[in-house]
Amino acid sequence: MSKNETLDYSLETFDKLLRKGCDMVIDRYSKLDEAATFCRYTPAEIEAWFNEDLPKDGMDAEKLMDIVKNKVMDTATMNIGPHFYAYVNTGGTQISIIAELLATAINQNGGKWHLAPAIVELEKQVVRWSAEMIGFGADAGGVLVSGGSAANLAGLTVARNIFFEKENIRDKGLFGLAPFIVYASDEVHGCVDKSIELLGIGMDNFRKIPCDENFKIGIFELEQQIKKDIDAGFTPFCIVGSAGTVNSGAVDPLDELAKIAEKYGLWFHIDGAYGGLAGALDENKRLFKGIEKAGSIAIDFHKWFYQPFEVGCVLVKGWGTLRNTYYKTASYLSTDGKSDNRFDFNEYNFQLSRNSKALKVWMTFKAYGCENIKRAIKNDIDLSSYLEEKINETDDFELCSPSSLSVCCFRYTGSIESTVKNASLLDKINIDIIPALEDDARVFITGTTLNNRPVIRACMINHRKREEHIDFLINVVREIGMNVEKRMR
Ligand SMILES: Cc1ncc(COP(=O)(O)O)c(C=O)c1O
Repeated sequence: MSKNETLDYSLETFDKLLRKGCDMVIDRYSKLDEAATFCRYTPAEIEAWFNEDLPKDGMDAEKLMDIVKNKVMDTATMNIGPHFYAYVNTGGTQISIIAELLATAINQNGGKWHLAPAIVELEKQVVRWSAEMIGFGADAGGVLVSGGSAANLAGLTVARNIFFEKENIRDKGLFGLAPFIVYASDEVHGCVDKSIELLGIGMDNFRKIPCDENFKIGIFELEQQIKKDIDAGFTPFCIVGSAGTVNSGAVDPLDELAKIAEKYGLWFHIDGAYGGLAGALDENKRLFKGIEKAGSIAIDFHKWFYQPFEVGCVLVKGWGTLRNTYYKTASYLSTDGKSDNRFDFNEYNFQLSRNSKALKVWMTFKAYGCENIKRAIKNDIDLSSYLEEKINETDDFELCSPSSLSVCCFRYTGSIESTVKNASLLDKINIDIIPALEDDARVFITGTTLNNRPVIRACMINHRKREEHIDFLINVVREIGMNVEKRMR
């Protein structure tokens, strides 16, 4: 293939390259079970591969794709496979891979209706379906964003701008307002901290309420803190409930939080980035009771909707709250000449230009159906209970948090008695197991800290996992744990 002097290929060449790309995808998907989960190269090695002079002339596209195959595809961490347990990462549905290709090919700009008519309508539909699925209410408005962090920031921005609408916060800013206070549990995700800082509220005005023994927010302590803040002259503003904490999958008592928010006139926001979509399961309705009372909720399709990165979503009560938060006019954006009710997403969120995130989510809804997605979520939850049972049956592991949603935290105890006497040795082993597992690369798992002690944390949100993979996980961690223990004794 000759060097390219325009930015397009002939249709024939384009077709050939697309087919080559498809072969690369199929090759990857034929190795889900056996490929190394971790990349085996060092940062210096990978940096060296790409550390080249600015390319002056273009290169042969087929050769370029070979480089991408060897250096990007074949070295990618295997988070699409069944041996991945870290963070809250899912595998991605296959229909979404196709959707992403198609969406990029038509290059629609979802910021304005007349730039992307079908994509805009799909996005509105995805918002309605997801609100219906989790029981958030028929009057929901919402917008697709890059992920859970962005969805929380968007939700808390709406909360701030609507709560302080009378004070005209959009014109006056925070200047002149007394400090206002946000409440969440001390297990709340760090992205909420970032939102608090970005929104000008400041960490001094963010109260982290201690959790109970199940890692759920202490309701009594929360109410005490609100009263204390009122007495001190602060303005309690917002409660953030976690519907699935990242550490242990705990779901705060949402209904009780909603009642407290109502009693004291606070905004109620839910971080449902990890767990929100699990609220769709009938068996979870009790656990998620109160979700419909929130003013805003962050959900994340690249978690428990099995989407490839990136796509999250904020849902709010009514499109009007989004519009009152974000609406701006500009002469160059005006399409007022048309009065056919077109919906311009740039008036409902921060971004103007936006890609077509809705297509993959919509195609996933349509291709698999909501019931299949719910079954996959249920399977993940069942696998977490299965891991918990297996851990409880062993003598060389201990369970550290009850399996809530699909997270199970445990510790390797080996031949060491799990007594206070040996706590520091146990801690050391469980800290060292994590990098040893990375070197081993058969499973991708990370650790966290619960009650100030290190634990191994397994999160199951991947529709490709089965019980045999959980058995494999336990065997691998045991083998690596024994090696680490031997080294330390
Ligand atoms: C509870 C919770 N909130 C927010 C986030 C942040 O989401 P994202 O990584 O999509 O920005 C995560 C990520 O794991 C999460 O688990």
